Amino acid sequence: MSGGPKQRLQGKQIVLGVCGGIAVYKAVELLRLLTKAGAEVSVVMTANARRFVSELTFQTLSNNPVYTGMFDSVREREIGHIALAERADLFVIAPATANLIGKVACGIADDLLSTTLMAAQAPLLLVPAMNVHMWENPILQGNLKKLSDLGCHVLEPEVGALACGAEGKGKFPDPQRIFEAVETLLHERDLAGETVLVGAGPTLEKIDPVRYIGNFSSGRMGYALARAAHLRGARVILVSGPTALPPPGGVDLVAVTSADQMRKTMLDALEEATAVIMAAAVADYRVAEPYSQKLKKEGAGGLTLKLERTPDILQELSERKGERIVVGFAAESENLLENARRKLAAKNLDLVVANDVTLAGAGFGADTNIVTLLAADGSEESLPCLPKEAVAGHILDRVAAALRRRR
Ligand code: C5P
Repeated sequence: MSGGPKQRLQGKQIVLGVCGGIAVYKAVELLRLLTKAGAEVSVVMTANARRFVSELTFQTLSNNPVYTGMFDSVREREIGHIALAERADLFVIAPATANLIGKVACGIADDLLSTTLMAAQAPLLLVPAMNVHMWENPILQGNLKKLSDLGCHVLEPEVGALACGAEGKGKFPDPQRIFEAVETLLHERDLAGETVLVGAGPTLEKIDPVRYIGNFSSGRMGYALARAAHLRGARVILVSGPTALPPPGGVDLVAVTSADQMRKTMLDALEEATAVIMAAAVADYRVAEPYSQKLKKEGAGGLTLKLERTPDILQELSERKGERIVVGFAAESENLLENARRKLAAKNLDLVVANDVTLAGAGFGADTNIVTLLAADGSEESLPCLPKEAVAGHILDRVAAALRRRR
């Protein structure tokens, strides 16, 4: 279950690698969050990182010596790169420069940090931060893809005003977001042996060959669930409508477009699943007879489209649920809890995640969500505004507990 952050990282050994970029000062805040939550942090700084912020700051806040050089003979004897690599439950590189990413991707080990990473066996979380053009550079992207394919975790930078004066993607994420990612990565693998089927994103319903009816779902909640379930040891089948999100590593992604395709794909996959989480914003209506040719505008008159209902996928999945745990979402703009309670009963669900899509910080497109969890046993828990990754953690805590009870 989710305890406070204090319990969550107690006894965990983290090696925090800090590279030379202006975001180094924000890594100080990350270090503070990690130690406050009980983690034992060993900081390794590159030579360039030390030009931005003194090692004394990291030393004071980590309550540990800061590791900087390969050839410090006393230190290397006491705790060298191999010992550092072996003690870690997790490596976090924040900020990770294009240089460090390139070195790790190519197996170059020419300083303490890259050499330690060469010997690393624990999971690695990279938090890149750089100028937008460096971020978009296909060489960097290729290196990140290579590392992702090898199982490294990459926390994507944010979009905004960058220290170099440019605008765009490359900003060091909010340290709280990095902290949440660390928490998830260090989470116990309590879904090992389970297969979680996740529906995510919008569905698009054709009007004619070039137009569709859609909605503003970004897919982020479903993708966060898929990623978190994978990290907790589950096999994950992610059935996703069109989104702009990168596919989460280690997850079986099946891309679909319409509600009909999503229905068929999810029903086919149901057999293998032990839990189903339906976070997709499925269109409720589609055009009854889509046009086979592109519609032409004629005169000044309007256009009337005849719509028909799409299948209720969750309802159908739930009718065949057997021993599976089934979770649905209730995105509402009014009478939130009342509607959610009705959904829980009508669709025979184990859990409903209710959110008011009109609130700031909740719903479509946002990085955060404000939800109430309503369980079949009648319990209701309202969570504060949390990053979608953290909301995913709470939902999966419930799924894991329900699966344990059912075993
Ligand atoms: O009944 P309502 O559509 O509001 O229920 C929302 C839940 O049902 C969500 O989990 C959504 O993914 C799912 N749903 C579905 N098929 C539809 C409509 C909604 O699976 N056609």
